[in-house]
Amino acid sequence: MPLVTTKEMFKKAYDGGYAIGAFNVNNMEIVQGITEAAREVNAPLILQVSKGARAYANHTYLVKLVEAAVIECPNIPIALHLDHGPDFETCKSCIDGGFTSVMIDASSKPFAENIEITKKVVEYAHDHGVVVEAELGTLAGIEDDVKVAAHAASYTRPEEVEEFVSKTGCDSLAIAIGTSHGAYKFTADQCTRNEKGVLVPPPLRFDVLEEVSKRLPGFPIVLHGSSSVPQEFVKMINDNGGKMPDAVGIPEEQLRKAAAMAVCKINIDSDLRLAMTGTIRQFFNEHPDKFDPREYLKPARANIKELVKHKLINVLGCDGKAL
Ligand code: G3H
Ligand code: 13P
Ligand code: ZN
Repeated sequence: MPLVTTKEMFKKAYDGGYAIGAFNVNNMEIVQGITEAAREVNAPLILQVSKGARAYANHTYLVKLVEAAVIECPNIPIALHLDHGPDFETCKSCIDGGFTSVMIDASSKPFAENIEITKKVVEYAHDHGVVVEAELGTLAGIEDDVKVAAHAASYTRPEEVEEFVSKTGCDSLAIAIGTSHGAYKFTADQCTRNEKGVLVPPPLRFDVLEEVSKRLPGFPIVLHGSSSVPQEFVKMINDNGGKMPDAVGIPEEQLRKAAAMAVCKINIDSDLRLAMTGTIRQFFNEHPDKFDPREYLKPARANIKELVKHKLINVLGCDGKAL
């Protein structure tokens, strides 16, 4: 089947109490690892491309890689989404260039300006059969070249969501309930430590999610910054010459709980980066004489695939939902 929008997948996910995985893609091995996992467990998929990914790999290469995945996975609905579109021009370029979904992220702007920019993108996108994700509230962490300190982050204000959605016409809404971008989601002072000395992050604000979904019945909610930062990959990195002390993510049980509520799309990027980097570091440590990129990218791709399978089945609950 050709690339699809997220409209139908979100409706089914909302009604079925699961979420669609949105994974960032930057090169061929990442596209292959994710899509092979989805094909094996029969899961719908969102492949997303950031401004940084377009700058790194080039728009055309990324679109063609995703089109190749669509050919290889004919039974799986796949949407191609712009992640954190910074302005109208970037969204327009992706809408004109084959994407089926875009995010306009004007969440750092004042409320009225966020509405104005989002509405302009929605009008253009809808005229071209493309859906739009918008954002209200500010996540902490790093996305592209924007770094938001924990103290500058702010939860979404539920009392603003109805006006925002009705005035902009957006198709889904990313909200801030305590998730954060990157592999260092929380400072040590924001966490407690368990008996093994491992950092335990503060719980997500499910009260905010509940209030938002009460005000927007049936409307798809999106969570960004939802990597769980698997400690096995942090250890693999640290055991093989890396230095990532106190990297901490969102506990997977909390993401599963959100997926069963109004959250229909969960963004995961950092976990895939950790899996790839850990695997490659370990490979070079064990094989210092090797220099063929295929030899170290092959196990990295295999570990991405296994990780994505785990997420699709145990965190998102979207396995078997492709048809
Ligand atoms: O939220 C941001 C995503 O993880 C994409 O990261 O801007 O480094 O491609 P990037
Ligand atoms: P993570 O950094 O938690 O993987 O978040 C990714 C994301 O939100 C992409 O938009
Ligand atoms: Zn994000």
